[in-house]
Amino acid sequence: MTRLCDAELRAVNGPLRRFFQRRIEFPVFCWLGLKGQGLDILEVGCGSGYGAFLLSRLKPKSYVGIDLMPEMIDLARKRNDVPHAEFRLMDAADMDQIPDASKDVVVIFDILHHIPRWREVLSECGRVLRPCGTIFLEEPNGSAIRLWDLFFHWGHPNDAAFTWRDLEARLNDVGFTVKHRCRLWPLRIYCAAKTPRP
Ligand SMILES: C[S@@+](CC[C@H](N)C(=O)[O-])C[C@H]1O[C@@H](n2cnc3c(N)ncnc32)[C@H](O)[C@@H]1O
Repeated sequence: MTRLCDAELRAVNGPLRRFFQRRIEFPVFCWLGLKGQGLDILEVGCGSGYGAFLLSRLKPKSYVGIDLMPEMIDLARKRNDVPHAEFRLMDAADMDQIPDASKDVVVIFDILHHIPRWREVLSECGRVLRPCGTIFLEEPNGSAIRLWDLFFHWGHPNDAAFTWRDLEARLNDVGFTVKHRCRLWPLRIYCAAKTPRP
């Protein structure tokens, strides 16, 4: 992925996207088990920082948001409603600046379908989580994205057009157990726990 097209950039930073994140995705994450104060949270693909604002309600011990687009990180750093958040420019498929087993929770709002190396992103998420850490992720699948692109031409990469089966198989392969899934066509929202290695 290089950058979102201008139309998607406007939509992602617009009020409708905020509404869905605030009223549907974040509440479903909480319903599926995202709770507890004092957590070390990593948000992968934090965009302009609205997720950081929502996650600040959990009063985390630390919050780091990473994104590959410099303009997103600039916007996120300008927010004044998430004072202790840290935003870093980083490729989610290669998060080597984040130490192994240093996070309790990883959150993904809607990014894997942009990233041809989405499999590596999930394995990086597994690496940075502590044993028994949890990932919460929300994504559309490949057929929904193809249908969308047919009309709107946002140009999502074909290599990231995964099926639900692909996504769940990769979660298992990198050491997660899916605990809960919520189907909200064309999205799914997952809670998956890192399976402790013997
Ligand atoms: C659809 S936007 C979602 C942004 C935000 N999470 C939200 O829900 O509004 C996808 C985000 O993923 C970021 N992104 C795409 N590829 C990435 C990568 N390889 N590493 C980190 N972030 C990436 C984009 O820059 C963009 O901010």
